Amino acid sequence: MKKNTLLKKTIEQVLRGRKLVLVSNRGPVQFDVDAAGRRRWRRGAGGLITALHSVLTTTKALWVAAAMSDEDRLVAREDALIGLPEDDPLYWIYLVDIPPATYDLYYNQISNKVLWFLHHYLFDALRQPSFDKEVKRAWSEGYVDVNRRFAEKVAAITQDDPRPIVLIQDYHLYLVAGWLRQLKPDALLFHFVHVPWCSPDYFKFLPSEIRQKILESLLANDIVGLHSWRYARNFMHCCQDFLGCRIDLRHHKVFVGDRVVYVKAYPISISVEELTAIADSPEVAEEKIKFMKLKAKYQLIVRIDRAELSKNLIRGFEAYALLLKDHPELRGKIKFLAYAYPTRESLSEYRTYRAAIEAIVERINTEFGDDSWQPVELGIEDNYHRSVAAMSTFDVLLTNPVFDGMNLVAKEASVLNMSDGVIVLSENAGAYEELRDGVLGVNPFDIEDTKNKLYQALTMTPLERGLRANRLREIVERNDVLKWLLHQLKDIEKVSKSSAIYQPREETRDLVN
Ligand code: F6P
Repeated sequence: MKKNTLLKKTIEQVLRGRKLVLVSNRGPVQFDVDAAGRRRWRRGAGGLITALHSVLTTTKALWVAAAMSDEDRLVAREDALIGLPEDDPLYWIYLVDIPPATYDLYYNQISNKVLWFLHHYLFDALRQPSFDKEVKRAWSEGYVDVNRRFAEKVAAITQDDPRPIVLIQDYHLYLVAGWLRQLKPDALLFHFVHVPWCSPDYFKFLPSEIRQKILESLLANDIVGLHSWRYARNFMHCCQDFLGCRIDLRHHKVFVGDRVVYVKAYPISISVEELTAIADSPEVAEEKIKFMKLKAKYQLIVRIDRAELSKNLIRGFEAYALLLKDHPELRGKIKFLAYAYPTRESLSEYRTYRAAIEAIVERINTEFGDDSWQPVELGIEDNYHRSVAAMSTFDVLLTNPVFDGMNLVAKEASVLNMSDGVIVLSENAGAYEELRDGVLGVNPFDIEDTKNKLYQALTMTPLERGLRANRLREIVERNDVLKWLLHQLKDIEKVSKSSAIYQPREETRDLVN
């Protein structure tokens, strides 16, 4: 059966006439106006959007997202469901209108500065976080407020269906289920967390009232999904430690009064079909020419990330500098192509990080380079076709995040690469659980280890490179994004069949007031 037909059939079987609603901060499209003042839209970026797009185009789903641009806010105020594509809609978008100042508190101050740092173990415990009145205000006037707006919007657009299936995404929207459970007691609620879930000791960084509210609200779902068993275990241990819940690790259950919440791992993946179609496009073919010319002269080490703190770019460059120092014979024979696209530049931490990246690249090029050879080439503009071409041609790919929910670059590279390239992957990336037999695992904090792995990758025999590359391709092709979706849909079907009607308990009622 064709993949999309299988997905369509499964979705119909699961829905049986119920509405399907996807809820995420960033929507599948963003609106703006062209030079003539006409409204237009373009597809949103990021792995989450790409993965969920397959659901959208297979069923007539509704997608609720935050209005982010000025034009988005105008669309939101028109209070209409926008069908896309316009002529024959495959899905409908509903944007939530949020005042920019409130959005800043919710997105920058709490989601990115507190929760993202927490989930990726990024706090510098000597100095931060420091939870003062401002942060608490950002929590209540930003995060809580926006989450409530989302829940109310979902309830409003599902008025005609008492039992919609609602798929809530990520760390921006932890409180949606708590509110929504009050408004739609019989809805099936599924929250997917796309970031690592940290250990209970680290979760303790959060003020007690905040961690309590997050956990209690997440437990208003029927299913909580994460990318790996390690994260699912951490989450269940947090429920046990901070809420006193009974947990059953073997059967992936958390008991909340007379209810059961399933906590399961569903490793997200890529659409192999879509990706290979892009790789075969003329735009990528043109970009590949440049890389093939470089490959004729050098072995290519490549990295492709957002200039994101958790991606650990600085230690990657430090390891590369060590490699050039300890193995002078490699100078002039290798090249590091680092593509690091700016991100979240409204936060000073990210601006400082980007400056540090530029500084270390300059230092390496000055120290080791000469007129005929530049050791590192840094590209900071977002160019997807170039990234796909680079992933198709690298000899070594370095992706060494300190912690990462999944790391889809490692999966994309496994499928795209045509040179039996070797992937050096952080042991703290979710993808490592699946790809460990094909990649060279690395401790992201250990720059000696990283240097050694880079050297091992550059000097590996063609036979071993080929074996590893085949293994990786086979693992990713077998577990593509369709499997991720079908696995979740099957569990939704099981829970739908078994679940008793949800009865909110007193404690849960309190949490949303
Ligand atoms: O890692 C989870 C994720 O949702 C990614 O899909 C996305 O890249 C990121 O977090 C959020 O990015 P942004 O803040 O740009 O929406």
